[in-house]
Amino acid sequence: MSEIKSNIVNKILVIDDDESIRKTLSGYLKKLNYEVYSASNGLEGIETAKKEIPDLVITDIKMPEADGFEVLKRVKEIDSHIHVIMITAFDDMHSTVKAMQQGAYDYIEKPLEIDKLKIIINRALENKRMSEKLSSFITDDVDDFQLENTLIGKASSMKNVYKKIGQTSSSRVTVLIEGESGTGKELVARAIHYSGLTKNKPFIPVNCTALTESLLESELFGHVKGSFTGSIRDKKGKFELANDGTIFLDEISEISPNLQVQLLRVLQQKEFERVGGETLIPMKARIIAATNKNLNSLVREGKFREDLYFRLKVVSINLPPLREKKEDIPILVSHFLAKINKELHKNVTKVPAEVMEMLKNHYWVGNVRELENTLMQAVVLSSDDILNKENVLLRKPEPGEMKEVGVQFITLAENEKNHIKKVLDAVQWDKNKAHKILGISLPTLYSKIETYKLSPFEEKIK
Ligand SMILES: Nc1ncnc2c1ncn2[C@@H]1O[C@H](COP(=O)(O)OP(=O)(O)OP(=O)(O)O)[C@@H](O)[C@H]1O
Ligand SMILES: [Mg+2]
Repeated sequence: MSEIKSNIVNKILVIDDDESIRKTLSGYLKKLNYEVYSASNGLEGIETAKKEIPDLVITDIKMPEADGFEVLKRVKEIDSHIHVIMITAFDDMHSTVKAMQQGAYDYIEKPLEIDKLKIIINRALENKRMSEKLSSFITDDVDDFQLENTLIGKASSMKNVYKKIGQTSSSRVTVLIEGESGTGKELVARAIHYSGLTKNKPFIPVNCTALTESLLESELFGHVKGSFTGSIRDKKGKFELANDGTIFLDEISEISPNLQVQLLRVLQQKEFERVGGETLIPMKARIIAATNKNLNSLVREGKFREDLYFRLKVVSINLPPLREKKEDIPILVSHFLAKINKELHKNVTKVPAEVMEMLKNHYWVGNVRELENTLMQAVVLSSDDILNKENVLLRKPEPGEMKEVGVQFITLAENEKNHIKKVLDAVQWDKNKAHKILGISLPTLYSKIETYKLSPFEEKIK
C-alpha cells in the first residue's frame, strides 16, 4: 500500500509510561512530519485523545492509572474511526489477541522495530481515510431504497444521463436506452419511471429475447381463450398490465420482423388486439426500450425497421461503458460494498490503493454488473475487513470481446498509442501477454510504451 500523500497532517498520540520509548517514538514520528502528542499514563492519554482527536493512538499495554485496554475502549468511544496500535511485550500472545478482539487496529512487539512500525502506521492512516470515506458515504447517501435503486456516478457522461432522466420523467415520451451489457439500462428505465409522472403506476419489464415469436406476441398483447393450443382462458398481455404506467421492452433488437410491424402499428395507432381477439384495446402505456446492440447499424444492415427505430428513439439515452468512466469506480465500489456487506452480513470496508488501481484499470466487458459480481465474489472469499487482491478475481477479456470504436479522425500514431494502451489495460499491464496479442516483440513493446509515454495510471484514453 502506498504512503499517505495528502497535505493533511495526521495527528498521532503516543502513550507509554516508559520515558525512553515515549521520547524515541515521538522524536521519530515528528521527523516524519506527523503532529505528535504524548502522555505518560492511560488517564492522561484518554484526556489528550478527547481534546485532540488524533488519527492514530499508539499505546503501551501495562501502565499505571488506566492500562492499554482501557485506553483502547475509551478512545473507541470518543471516535470509532481512531485507530489504536498496541505495544505488547514480545511474549504476550494473550494480551495481543485480546487487544485485536477489542478492536485494536494492530499491535507491535517490544523492542520496537522502527521500519515495521512505519509500515503499520502508514497502513493504519490509509485505512482510516478509506473507512471514513465509506462510512460517511453509508450514513449520508445510502438507505435501503437507494441501495437497490440509485444510479451512482459523477462522471460528466452520467450527469448527462441524469439530465435526460429528469427531462423525460415529466412526460410520457418514448425513450430508447442504448448501452453495452451491464451498463445500467434497466436501472435508468426504472429511474425514469419512478421519478416522475408514472411513479405510482405499474412498471412492466419484458425481455424480448427470452421467448419465441408467438409466445412473445401473446406475452405483449395477451390472447383470447382458444386462440392457440393450450390457451385455455383469456389472458391479459403486458401492454394491458402496464395500463398507464411503463412497459420496458428490454433487448428490443431481438424482436422478429413480424413483431416489429405489429409494434410499429401499436405505436402509431395507440391501440391493439389480443391474439385471436377482435376488440381493440387502447394502448396507454409509455414505452421505454433498451438495447445493447447498435440499432442504427442494424437498421443499415436491414435487420431492424427504420420507421420503428425512429418511433422508439424520440429521446435516446446512451450509457457509457464502465471503462470510459473510470473516475466513478471508487464510488461504485463503496456503493456495492455497502450493499453486499448488508446482504451477506459481512464488513469488508477497506480497499487497498493497489486493489482500487487494479479495478480502475480493468477492461470490464460486463461493465457495472461485472464489477458488482466481482466484488460480491471477493466479499464472500474475504475473512477480514479488507478487500484483498487475492480475492478479487478479474476475468480477462478475450481479444474479440474488446469493442471496436467507430471511425475517428486521428493519426495512425495516435491510433497505435490508443490500441496499445487498451490492450495493456485489458491484460492488467502484463507485458508478456500484451506483446503476443499485439504481435510485436517485447523490446518493441517497451520502446513504444516509452515513445508514447504510456502508463497504467493514465485516466483518459481517446
Ligand atoms: N450507475 C450505476 N450505479 C449503481 N448501480 C449500477 C449502475 N449501473 C449499473 N448498476 C447495477 O449494475 C447491474 C446491471 O445493471 P442493469 O441490469 O440495469 O444493466 P443493463 O444495461 O440492463 O444490462 P444488460 O444489457 O445485461 O441487461 C445492476 O445490478 C445495477 O443495479
Ligand atoms: Mg438489462
